[in-house]
Amino acid sequence: MTNIPDNIKQEIKGLVKDLNYHCYRYHVIDSPVISDQDYDRMYRRLSDLEEQNALILPGSPTQRVGAAPLDKFDKIKHRSPMLSLGNAFSHDEVRDFDQRIKRFLKSDEAVEYTVEPKYDGLAIELSYKNGVLHKASTRGDGAVGEDVTRNIRTIKTVPLKIEGDFIPEEIDIRGEVYMDLKEFEALNRGREEQGEPAFANPRNAAAGSIRQLDSSITSGRKLHLACYGAGYYEGIEFKSQLDFIGWLKEAHFPVPDNIKHSDRIEKIIDAIRKIEEKRDDFSFEVDGAVLKVNNFALQNELGIKTREPRWATAYKFAAHQGVTKVNDIVASVGRIGTITPVAFLAPVEIGGVTVSRSTLHNWDEIERKDIRIGDTVVVERAGDVIPHVIAVVKDKRTGSEIYFPPPAECPVCGAAVEKEENEVAFRCIGLDCAAQVQERIKHYSSRAAMDIEGLGEKNVELLYSKKLVGHFSDIYKLKKEDLLELPRFAEKSAQNLIAAIEKSKTTTLSRFLYSLGIIHVGEYAAKLLARNFEGVENLFHIEHERIVSIKHMGEKIACSVERFFNDTENLQALTTLKSLGLHISNPDYESSEAGVRLFEELTFVVTGTMPKPRKEVESLIESMGGHSSGSVSKKTDYLVLGESPGSKFKKAQTLGINIISYEDLLKMIESEGPF
Ligand code: IVH
Repeated sequence: MTNIPDNIKQEIKGLVKDLNYHCYRYHVIDSPVISDQDYDRMYRRLSDLEEQNALILPGSPTQRVGAAPLDKFDKIKHRSPMLSLGNAFSHDEVRDFDQRIKRFLKSDEAVEYTVEPKYDGLAIELSYKNGVLHKASTRGDGAVGEDVTRNIRTIKTVPLKIEGDFIPEEIDIRGEVYMDLKEFEALNRGREEQGEPAFANPRNAAAGSIRQLDSSITSGRKLHLACYGAGYYEGIEFKSQLDFIGWLKEAHFPVPDNIKHSDRIEKIIDAIRKIEEKRDDFSFEVDGAVLKVNNFALQNELGIKTREPRWATAYKFAAHQGVTKVNDIVASVGRIGTITPVAFLAPVEIGGVTVSRSTLHNWDEIERKDIRIGDTVVVERAGDVIPHVIAVVKDKRTGSEIYFPPPAECPVCGAAVEKEENEVAFRCIGLDCAAQVQERIKHYSSRAAMDIEGLGEKNVELLYSKKLVGHFSDIYKLKKEDLLELPRFAEKSAQNLIAAIEKSKTTTLSRFLYSLGIIHVGEYAAKLLARNFEGVENLFHIEHERIVSIKHMGEKIACSVERFFNDTENLQALTTLKSLGLHISNPDYESSEAGVRLFEELTFVVTGTMPKPRKEVESLIESMGGHSSGSVSKKTDYLVLGESPGSKFKKAQTLGINIISYEDLLKMIESEGPF
């Protein structure tokens, strides 16, 4: 470190500070003040400097990325035990709690309480030494938890460094790691498609993501944090919960929104009621409200009773549940042939949402819960919309309920079904199964895949039924005239769909590989492949050993990738797709011997509205070895001009810089590019 020039050290220090600040503005308070592009540029500069100078400062944002998998978690002893909370299930029990406190304190004097939402996630302790995140652990048994530092670091809202004027020598901060309902649903959808078991609720999903031995998987799951308590600390004093929360905010920790406080228990009950009323408006699962004695001196006096503090309690909301009847059970077939039993229910309102169907996941689940057609069942909404059958009300059985047996053949195409060893799902093995074919096309055009706007479920079904598409490569053969024949299309909508298909032709290799719907290849595995193979042709006839040699690539995925890229029909389909004019760039490729590439040493500025998101155009440039910059200068080689440009266009004209269109850029790539 001594050989590093002072100005470089200062620049690194400044970048760490600025990037952490912008990360906080973006992720914690949702109020960014710089563009994503500027953030990315600063980030890249920092990681370059770190690499060139072998200097990584504590708290550097580059250390958030996932690291290599662990064999097991180490144990961490909590310096002060992580307690659980007593419960109150009614407003009267809240009044009893207040009375108990006053009795214990032998005083009738008013006690001030705070009320915060109770996050339904996983309790975590973050230990900071001299303001830098040192360790993070799960609650475990309250005395000893698991070391999940590497996973916690990947959460963008976890400060790697404490900000502000008051930085204690030591502090253990406690909070809840949770997953947003939307993220939870998307994660489960992906898992079900891949034939992996879905998480039962957002809490399990958050816990499963944190207790991952492979932190790169955690980093791909969007987790959040809310901090609400302190464990051991020295070098700082707090008077109360509100004082502590105020410090947390200044130090850039995410805290519960809108904490209410009062010394009148009826006001506290009002505050609880308000949180319960707002329960469905939160973007995450809230399963109650937590009441705490505000004053820390009083908290100390009240102390602990067995494993719960006397100074706090959790008011638990009733689970969103309803009772209804199973009218029917139907087996539905997914993209890779997975057969899922779905219960059709008599519509019932649960927590403001009408529920009329529920996945029963698989036949093991049906047998375990003994669910039959005609049964009366208890349904719970675990996430925002996903309902689950919790139990059968056996007392209501009449004897006419019908057992729903596992499928002997595919309910859609009649082909044979198989159940792989150690898997719960039945799978249709029919190659031309109409359900699978349509699901594959839907997957291909979906947002995370080729992102063809306007080619959603309904339109895919329509095009399939009219025999216009039988495989996703047929999408590119569609003509406006074909669409105009169909009931759902008029001139404008047909035009739009054709334009969206055209636009989707420019994509990245990771997206393209994900779109192919290879069994077990989700977005993450697709990214891994793209990092290791420059173009799709490099995967043709791939050998098993080559795929398993990729770090983080599992055996199951490798087998599936090998099978896919050694199948003549698949390779034929890929060659057809290629000939239909796809432009596939690969910004993820980590070339070991990066030779000179097309745009090496060239600087581009992209301005105005592009046919693609600007980020994607920039990734394309970078994949060709070019550099993309946010501002025009004498060093700019090309300005890529879109519609309604601003001052950058004028400046480029003044400086006499080459001005090209997006189409020109594609032509430059096509003439010499790899695909
Ligand atoms: S305070 C002494 N505040 O609920 C206990 N806990 O059921 C300190 N939780 O283990 C906990 N939101 O994991 C507190 N605003 C909040 C909370 C909260 C969720 C969790 C926490 C705790 C569990 C007890």
